[in-house]
Amino acid sequence: MKEIALHVLDIVQNSIEAGATRVAVTVTEDTERDLLTVEIVDNGRGMPPDVARAATDPFVTTRRTRPVGLGLPLLALAARQSGGSLTVDSRPGEGTRVLVTFRSGHVDRPPLGDMALTLACLMAANPTLDLDYVHVRDGREFRVSAADLRSRLDGVGLGNPAVFAFVRDYIGAKIREVSDTGRTTGAGTRTEPAGDRALSN
Ligand SMILES: Nc1ncnc2c1ncn2[C@@H]1O[C@H](COP(=O)(O)OP(=O)(O)OP(=O)(O)O)[C@@H](O)[C@H]1O
Ligand SMILES: [Mg+2]
Repeated sequence: MKEIALHVLDIVQNSIEAGATRVAVTVTEDTERDLLTVEIVDNGRGMPPDVARAATDPFVTTRRTRPVGLGLPLLALAARQSGGSLTVDSRPGEGTRVLVTFRSGHVDRPPLGDMALTLACLMAANPTLDLDYVHVRDGREFRVSAADLRSRLDGVGLGNPAVFAFVRDYIGAKIREVSDTGRTTGAGTRTEPAGDRALSN
């Protein structure tokens, strides 16, 4: 089963391919409402309404190497299989917003996965991308932005191996901090991966 963090990697890749210079990813966990939402907003070139409407159909793609696009349809399927949904709002010339919801406790809900690794990779591979991440769980919140990290690094790139490892560990620890205190045994059907792997939930 694919992890949500890997889907996020895919969806942010679409934003980058659409020329976005800014991408904001927000993960919200609401235990009370049994709801997990992931929102990805970019300032890329956007899509005309018909493309946006059809974008969750695997036969819609602007890629030239093969005739189907799978990023959005696979995420839409994962969302639907766990009682949620995916919506795409897009305006040509302005940007795109992908909103995905999952029933948190649904037996088929993919695990969040290693979001810290996804973010560290995106930051390392895209030195000029303004990537903002917010993780909210039951009102507690962690925010990180690539622009802020870069300004503290005094010219050392986020692709530097030591910096990459630091950023990944830092984000992982912070997300765990936000997630851990709210953890309940109520989710029943979910099993925790062994050990202390960052971000797995
Ligand atoms: N953020 C975005 N901004 C502009 N267009 C987008 C965006 N996301 C998706 N699209 C459009 O929707 C199409 C379908 O996206 P999807 O991720 O499903 O497939 P793909 O990117 O074409 O292929 P794959 O993800 O399998 O490599 C894209 O080809 C692109 O035209
Ligand atoms: Mg894609």
